[in-house]
Amino acid sequence: DRSIKIAPSILSADFADFGREIRAVEDQGADWVHVDVMDGHFVPNITFGPPAVAAFRKHVRTVMDVHLMIAPVDPYIDAFARAGADIITAHVEAGPHIHRTLQAIRGAGARAGVALNPGTPAESVEHLLDLADLVCVMTVNPGFGGQKFIDMTDKVRRLRAMIGDRPVHIEIDGGVDPTTAPALARAGADVLVAGSAVFRGGSVSNSAPYGENIAAI
Ligand code: DX5
Ligand code: ZN
Repeated sequence: DRSIKIAPSILSADFADFGREIRAVEDQGADWVHVDVMDGHFVPNITFGPPAVAAFRKHVRTVMDVHLMIAPVDPYIDAFARAGADIITAHVEAGPHIHRTLQAIRGAGARAGVALNPGTPAESVEHLLDLADLVCVMTVNPGFGGQKFIDMTDKVRRLRAMIGDRPVHIEIDGGVDPTTAPALARAGADVLVAGSAVFRGGSVSNSAPYGENIAAI
């Protein structure tokens, strides 16, 4: 479905070659580029900080979608905005002041996203929908690529009803592949993050599989 955006997660890219990996997935049809920031505290893995994200910015020609899996979040919002994030997504579980966090993201000039872990109900974002441009529904427990999909179709359907006619994206993150994507799109998701399902079988010097994988989702 062409109205569904595909956001490859560079967590599954070659970490020594991000510039060319970003160009390769965009040339192969990626709509957005999804950047997973992990702190070894909110999630049990560490990836990259604002200087790395600023370096990615030079290569991203589409939309740089930055998913912060860090706690606390607020001290780093300005740094990620200055690094050139178009969208900054923070977790509802990352602190007591997600409302303030979303205001701060917009105040820093980025679009604001709010992410929910699999165990967190749709209702946790009910009072945030006028402050958010995107709700990210995690379909794995965050921290690693390549994990088994956890079905959250019912949560997506509830969120789409709660959102009503507001211009809010529903993004799915974790275990998205050609077998899991269709039901999520039918339930109301319009942005699909995919890491392992996009990067499998390809490389910067053989990027056609990226295009085939994106088209198959
Ligand atoms: C998980 C990350 C995801 C991850 C998805 O913590 O937020 O973006 O890269 O990877 P796959 O698509 O392989 O499940
Ligand atoms: Zn992510």
